[in-house]
Amino acid sequence: MKITETVFDTFNKQTVKKITLTNDRGTSISLLNLGAIWNEFLVPSQSGQKNILLNFQHAQNYFDNPFYLGMAIGRTAGRIKNGQFTLDHELVTLPKNEGNNTLHGGPHGFNSFLWNYQATKNNNEASITFYRTILSTEDNYPGNLTATITYTLDNQNHVSLAFTGISDQTTVFNPTSHAYFNLSDKNDIKSLELTINSSEYLELSDDKIPTGHFIPVNDSPFDFQSSRQLGQSIEQMKNTKEKGFDDIYHVDNSKKIITSLTDQSSGRQLTISSARNGLVLFTSNSFTADMSFSTGAGTPYMGVALEAQTLPDSMNNPDFGDIILPANTKKTYTIDYQYTKK
Ligand code: GAL
Repeated sequence: MKITETVFDTFNKQTVKKITLTNDRGTSISLLNLGAIWNEFLVPSQSGQKNILLNFQHAQNYFDNPFYLGMAIGRTAGRIKNGQFTLDHELVTLPKNEGNNTLHGGPHGFNSFLWNYQATKNNNEASITFYRTILSTEDNYPGNLTATITYTLDNQNHVSLAFTGISDQTTVFNPTSHAYFNLSDKNDIKSLELTINSSEYLELSDDKIPTGHFIPVNDSPFDFQSSRQLGQSIEQMKNTKEKGFDDIYHVDNSKKIITSLTDQSSGRQLTISSARNGLVLFTSNSFTADMSFSTGAGTPYMGVALEAQTLPDSMNNPDFGDIILPANTKKTYTIDYQYTKK
């Protein structure tokens, strides 16, 4: 195992570092201390190394669009209706950053901070832990939250992403990763096959807030219970407002693996495991040419974000699950990514 550190860029007069963990098979992941961004997932390929993540070359590019590329998302993934909820009989009001709602932790989410970090390794794995205390006065959530975000790569090409949180007051905690994947050698994800271990997804209002209703996936483009080509389903969605997927699945997490993505032509596969009950599928429908990716201009369907989390806005929909973090209690949420190649 190897750990290297380089300067990625400067941002707001601060140095952004890029830390790379490489395993004995030549697979590596790179992370930025800005936003705890997952910047690269390089897997061995015939032409050297292939990056299966979308990324940018400059720090500023990450903040020039609303797509949270590769970023750590917290304290709470997804949208909170009207930026409000009741916690311990008190009304909590969060700052809004998308119309009348709070998205992905609001304007001062995990993605917006420069994190401290420490890297460690042994014979079989290397890790980097980002850590920071987010004061209630910084993001307006209840409680000062001490959070860690640990990315670990091992020699089996397994990446584990663990989030921990502990707060001095009862608060809410539902972090995720906003990595966008593309396993194919093409510039879009349409030829990839997707499975999602889910029989229902959430009905959403026009501003993408869950209404509380679940819709069965049966006989619809949303049905990925058996593996299905993303392009086929996207084609069937082309007359919708979104022109693709930006949807929240209620997943069956009893088998641990909640979703898998396969590129038949290269044999690359990624499976994602999570113990939580939600998965957002976002097929980058609205990417635009002014986004300058490392690989070139942005285009729709360049990547797919698969965001494991507890169903969002659960504070306003009690049957969606529980994201309460009681005072002085540490909680850990883990998302596991297993890469294989046939
Ligand atoms: C997703 C969300 C999308 C979009 C995206 C970031 O989680 O469902 O609507 O906001 O994040 O661009």
